[in-house]
Amino acid sequence: MADLSTTVNGLKMPNPFVIASGPPGTNANVICKAFEEGWGAVICKTVSLDAEKVTNVYPRYARLRSRETNEIVGWENIELISDRPFATWIEEFKQIKDKHPGGVLICSIMEEYNEDAWLEIVERCQEVGADAFELNFSCPHGLPERKMGSAMGENPDILEEVVGWVMKAAKVPVWAKMTPNVTHIEDPTRAAFRAGCQGVSAINTIRSVASVNLKTLRPEPSIAGYTTPGGYSCQAVRPVALRMCMEIAKVIRDEFPGRTLSGIGGIETGGDAAQFILLGADSVQVCTGVMKMGYGCIKPMLEELSVFMDKHEFNTIADFQGHSVQFFTTHADLVRRQAEEKAAEKAMKVVTADEQWSGDDFVEQSDALARG
Ligand SMILES: Cc1cc2nc3c(=O)[nH]c(=O)nc-3n(C[C@H](O)[C@H](O)[C@H](O)COP(=O)(O)O)c2cc1C
Repeated sequence: MADLSTTVNGLKMPNPFVIASGPPGTNANVICKAFEEGWGAVICKTVSLDAEKVTNVYPRYARLRSRETNEIVGWENIELISDRPFATWIEEFKQIKDKHPGGVLICSIMEEYNEDAWLEIVERCQEVGADAFELNFSCPHGLPERKMGSAMGENPDILEEVVGWVMKAAKVPVWAKMTPNVTHIEDPTRAAFRAGCQGVSAINTIRSVASVNLKTLRPEPSIAGYTTPGGYSCQAVRPVALRMCMEIAKVIRDEFPGRTLSGIGGIETGGDAAQFILLGADSVQVCTGVMKMGYGCIKPMLEELSVFMDKHEFNTIADFQGHSVQFFTTHADLVRRQAEEKAAEKAMKVVTADEQWSGDDFVEQSDALARG
């Protein structure tokens, strides 16, 4: 029977499934619910010292559905970070740790380009029991207007400096959450690791425009007739997320062994999670999936991951973590490998003893012995 428990940067988790920062971790009530349902760890909705600057609009989501089944496959949001006062969060972090002392509580934090603010937020969350931090360098909408979120994550120099500030104060593991809205995700990844953080999380949402309403001719989600590009998540982003995780996994393997990766983007099943782990993730995060299916979706996910592991005789997550990264190569190498494979197949068809003649390959075998 597969053992799903895992230890990431010293954080002991009953399984690798983590609630990603967003609505599913938006107050003590729902965070406790997640622990009770069996999630391996919870990352809170991103908090900052001054929530007064955060004003959300609604509607703030726009969803893309499959033409065949009507299932939601894509989800755009223009939601900001938490609009709840920092003092409330501090009180709730304490309550959560009192109720679930063994639960891994990861504080997602974001601040402006100000060292004192970053040091203060780290110290105050740590005092009330934060088990780890995730630094949000990646929300693609709203906050970048204030030089926060992906405005920092798109600039490896700033990212390295800010992670360096955090590492001066942090006594617990730190993950930097990467934006996918860059050409080469390896660059901010290297910057984060150079500054000393233990892990990275990838990906946050992809900058997007959900749709244009053909009756009103206004883009969605429409607020007083206007919108702003948002962040795209859900199943549709999974191939992009898998590609970026694979690229990060190579950086870890080749340049920063021992650092960790938390894979995110469109995970809704145990099989989805297995793919991220095969491409190097140590843990996996789910946000939109919980918004679609509720906290109980952890149970079928655990079951499916466990069945996958049993089928392949993997006893632990470590037994297959990163296994499939080795099968990526260059296109030129694919051409060479295919030519070799074809030559080998052709050689196989050459009959060297009469007992090798087969009914299925008879014509090919005749061809292989023929000239002209
Ligand atoms: C409505 C919504 C709000 C989100 N808010 C945050 C946030 O506050 N901080 C953060 O780091 N990521 C936030 N995210 C991004 C998610 O944590 C995650 O990186 C992204 O949605 C991809 O994963 P998914 O396909 O499982 O949702 C949010 C996503 C959604 C859909």
